[in-house]
Amino acid sequence: MSESGFVRVCSLSELEDDTPKRVEIGSVPVSLVRTEGEVFAINDICSHANVSLSEGEVEDCAIECWLHGSRFDLRTGKPSGPPAVRPVPVYPVKIEGDEVLVSVTQES
Ligand code: FES
Repeated sequence: MSESGFVRVCSLSELEDDTPKRVEIGSVPVSLVRTEGEVFAINDICSHANVSLSEGEVEDCAIECWLHGSRFDLRTGKPSGPPAVRPVPVYPVKIEGDEVLVSVTQES
């Protein structure tokens, strides 16, 4: 791990648009989402219950929890509606060539 905490998680070409990919960074489950020309990293666990967000749908730069339908903004982690009320952590992403790097030591 580098000083800034960024670690390589996958290559860009492994990410399909609007198809979340779950990765583990240390002990942190992260959902990677490539959408609208950018890559986002959001904690994979819904803030409402222990449900994997990477199994949900992506639309309008948000990921929807498949269980009760709260949608979390991929830029801020904030839910746009109930039942979830707390945000999910989001993390900074860097693209270097074809490499996707994420730092879970700093929440963005
Ligand atoms: S578990 Fe995600 S909204 Fe309820």
